Amino acid sequence: MPEPSKKQRPQSAGFFASPLRYPGGKGRLGPWLASVIEHNGLTGCRYVEPYAGGAGAALYLLLKKHVGHIVINDADPLIHALWHSVVEQTDELVRLIESTPITMGTRETLLEAVQRPNRHSLLELGFAAFFLNRTSRSGILTGGVIGGKDQAGPYKLDARFQREDLVARVRAIGAMREHITVSKLDALDLLDGFSSGAPDCTLIYMDPPYYVKGSQLYLHHYRHADHVAIAKCASTVKHPLLITYDNCPEVRTLYSAMRGTEFSLQYSTHTARPVASEALFYANLELPSSPRLTRSEHLTARRTAPRSEDAKTQERKGEYV
Ligand SMILES: C[S@@+](CC[C@H](N)C(=O)[O-])C[C@H]1O[C@@H](n2cnc3c(N)ncnc32)[C@H](O)[C@@H]1O
Repeated sequence: MPEPSKKQRPQSAGFFASPLRYPGGKGRLGPWLASVIEHNGLTGCRYVEPYAGGAGAALYLLLKKHVGHIVINDADPLIHALWHSVVEQTDELVRLIESTPITMGTRETLLEAVQRPNRHSLLELGFAAFFLNRTSRSGILTGGVIGGKDQAGPYKLDARFQREDLVARVRAIGAMREHITVSKLDALDLLDGFSSGAPDCTLIYMDPPYYVKGSQLYLHHYRHADHVAIAKCASTVKHPLLITYDNCPEVRTLYSAMRGTEFSLQYSTHTARPVASEALFYANLELPSSPRLTRSEHLTARRTAPRSEDAKTQERKGEYV
């Protein structure tokens, strides 16, 4: 994969609370989700992400006190191990982040560890997931190491590993552990619990693996039949529910019975509205507006977590690796 141009926006520019860099991450929707919560009288509610990934939106809503409790669920054992370590073993994870040499040798060792998960503790796997995410291009393991195997690129493998900044994020999340539930359920099993009984104050935000590119981005992805099953299950949920997907004809057909809109994960300017690459479907709530990312939201979100001087400098330069 060629190194992206330095002029590209930093992928993580929208939100800095999650320690994970996540393909398709929705952290930048945080401020808009906060407006949905307020509009529907859901402030202080429980917020559930059955497909949490980097959980950027969930963390934004919790740290900004829009919701009282978040459920971070992901079926990927590595992602689960990472969140378990952040929330339940914060100090131990911080020690590993602070002391582990950021070298190709460490990366090789941790790549081997994730091939044999049964031989390792949740903390070891969680740290491996963290390290590999922060040293891989765009946070995707299959994207290869930042700087290439021979480390000849302009950025080296530690380009996204600002220890001080990452430790601050992990500690901020760990401090909220009483308000966070981490689980590794299949999303369908988690959702089953929401299709019966009276709805309590809970908002569910589903962001399943992309229909078209899911297999390239996530270890755990869906086939057509899985997308059908999840759409059927979503239609039975009685709680306020939001679902985002890649905006393709198959997905629009699956959710044709639900109210929906389109949006882009790129920022709008006063002159240009980017292509609506994402689809949003919703039930049991009203939208105050369609999701639209603007500079002011971007700035609001960016102020949430303290950042190191290194991170600020990188961000000013618009570096992207
Ligand atoms: C589009 S990503 C979610 C990105 C997330 N919203 C964010 O902001 O980072 C989809 C996630 O679903 C997870 N996943 C895939 N199949 C799943 C399943 N059956 N149950 C729960 N999670 C699953 C993947 O591991 C991946 O992290």
